[in-house]
Amino acid sequence: MFNDFPLFPDAASSIANDIDAFYFFMVGVCGLLALVVVCLIFFFALKYRRRHPDEIPSGEEPPQWVEVVWIVVPFFILMGMFFWGAWLYFQVSRPPDDALDIYVTAKQWMWKFQHVGGQSEINALHVPVGRPVRLIMASEDVIHSFFVPAFRVHTDVLPNRYSFNWFEATKVGKHHLFCSEYCGTEHSGMIGSVFVMEPADYEVWLSGGAQGSPADEGKKLFEKLACDSCHATSSTGRGPSLVGLFGQIRPIQGGSAVKADENYLRESILNPQAKIADGYQPIMPTFRGQVNEEQLMRLIAYIKSLGARTQQGSTQPVSSGGNQIPGSPATTTGNGRELPTQSGSNVTQPSPTSTNSPIPAQDTP
Ligand code: CUA
Repeated sequence: MFNDFPLFPDAASSIANDIDAFYFFMVGVCGLLALVVVCLIFFFALKYRRRHPDEIPSGEEPPQWVEVVWIVVPFFILMGMFFWGAWLYFQVSRPPDDALDIYVTAKQWMWKFQHVGGQSEINALHVPVGRPVRLIMASEDVIHSFFVPAFRVHTDVLPNRYSFNWFEATKVGKHHLFCSEYCGTEHSGMIGSVFVMEPADYEVWLSGGAQGSPADEGKKLFEKLACDSCHATSSTGRGPSLVGLFGQIRPIQGGSAVKADENYLRESILNPQAKIADGYQPIMPTFRGQVNEEQLMRLIAYIKSLGARTQQGSTQPVSSGGNQIPGSPATTTGNGRELPTQSGSNVTQPSPTSTNSPIPAQDTP
């Protein structure tokens, strides 16, 4: 009956009912408290009104047990809210390990989605029912916010780092997607739909319209930008090998360590001097301005895909100097040295501090 003007969105994800229960509990507690306070105001105003002009208050103190009750009871209710909310927060912020990754790019004023199989879509997102989906999200310009009311998911999408979101849809159908952060003139038009499909239908949908997967596209870009001239698949390049890197804890210069997650890879591509891998020179140029958000995601998808592969010994660990970045500016590194941009100078030069063998690994059958 209220289908046209729903008072409350559908509960279509695995956490929706938990979130609703918490929400209604808070609304109930706050509503009850407000009701009691308002009723008491009127009751006391009538009961203790001044009946004749020379009446003065008696100065009575309330009994101590009353004070104890109104301190202890709200304390336990509020602590209960805190732990309940914290528990929910952990559910919401920790995607299961087997989640399906989907890359999301927000820009004024549209949502772009990229599936691991290579399918991409705009303002529409197709997902299977009953399977956790993890969103890796970044913005091309300003802050947007990814909001699917039916899933009770709501996360800001930021221009300078990845934010994450996950849900497991439980109801087949079409659900609203909104941008819920004012992001300019057409903010209100930055909307879309999430289509939740039966797994079999989803497979059929996936089989149509696939281009190269993000990892494959990322590999091409990796080669085009000549990343492989330093980051060879064996550990003989000027930069560390990226094989098996993703998800590892890596030592960095200065004695600390960092987890090689999406945000670390992103930072290392855009701001390579921020965290230098232990044993390597700070010679990597920035790729800020040379790759956009979608290309960045593809590069990261490729590096992630290297994690799954076993290291292959290579007789040709470094590509020849022919594939320089076209028009790449000479880049001054953090220690003031100029990077070689001449074609041909792009060969292996193991840094003196490198812990790796300076001799290229040979295939040993
Ligand atoms: Cu994007 Cu509002």
